[in-house]
Amino acid sequence: MELVIQSDAERAAWLVASLMAKALRRKPQLVLGLATGRTMEQVYSYLVHMHRKEGLDFSLCRTFNLDEYIGLPPEHPGSYRYYMNRHLFTHINIDRRNTYLPDGLAGDLPAACCRYEETIRETGGIDLQLLGIGADGHIGFNEPLSALRSRTRAVMLDPSTIAVNSTLFNQSSEMPNRALTMGVGTILDARAVLLLVTGKAKADILAKAVEGPVTSMISASALQFHPACQVIADEAAAERLLGQDHYRRAFAHDPDWQEFRNLGPIPKIAS
Ligand code: GLP
Repeated sequence: MELVIQSDAERAAWLVASLMAKALRRKPQLVLGLATGRTMEQVYSYLVHMHRKEGLDFSLCRTFNLDEYIGLPPEHPGSYRYYMNRHLFTHINIDRRNTYLPDGLAGDLPAACCRYEETIRETGGIDLQLLGIGADGHIGFNEPLSALRSRTRAVMLDPSTIAVNSTLFNQSSEMPNRALTMGVGTILDARAVLLLVTGKAKADILAKAVEGPVTSMISASALQFHPACQVIADEAAAERLLGQDHYRRAFAHDPDWQEFRNLGPIPKIAS
């Protein structure tokens, strides 16, 4: 695992978008794993900017989202399909048929989950998985006690997740308490993983996830098993990390990071 600390949330999101853009330029048929949540909005706004200003090309790429609520139609503003269309897909040149989310409306949910896994396999697997972290350490919707080898499946959301995420719904009662999510095992199968963590509220869970013991109580801690996992945090989220000096030194001197040390001015994007 590599950990990079950036001065603020904008810079952290810009670095993540730049790493994704580099992977896409190197392999136009990239299979991307995508995440939702407030943290990712900035990343997507930068990718849209790169598409508009630098012609970043999504025409051949395929995407798989981590999760989707059960029972919400795509046109529901709380659904993750709606989120993805709003923040990314409608603004870039991706073929919408190449964008996949678990089917939370399926009559047979276990069958839909198996199909999702199969479709990922058929595309050759996820090249680069983008991740955020929930306050309880979830990745995707892998709540505490999710098996470290779990696959895509239906889950009950934790009350703490419902409390946080229901603020994104017009009426909190509209928020489903179940979702489909890629499993921890599905996520660990991605060839590379990029975890973005920003803000003081995530400082405690980030330290536990990356410097604490691996435990199914904190799904993100399973990323310690991943051979190519980069964690990008801002100062606020990094505040409780014991190894800060080492992480800063590695980023400052490792030749692999050279092109990302001075990314220049970050574009101002109207929200
Ligand atoms: C949701 C998503 C996660 C995401 C998390 C963090 O629960 N299922 O994939 O990482 O939110 O969201 P935020 O960035 O809003 O803190």
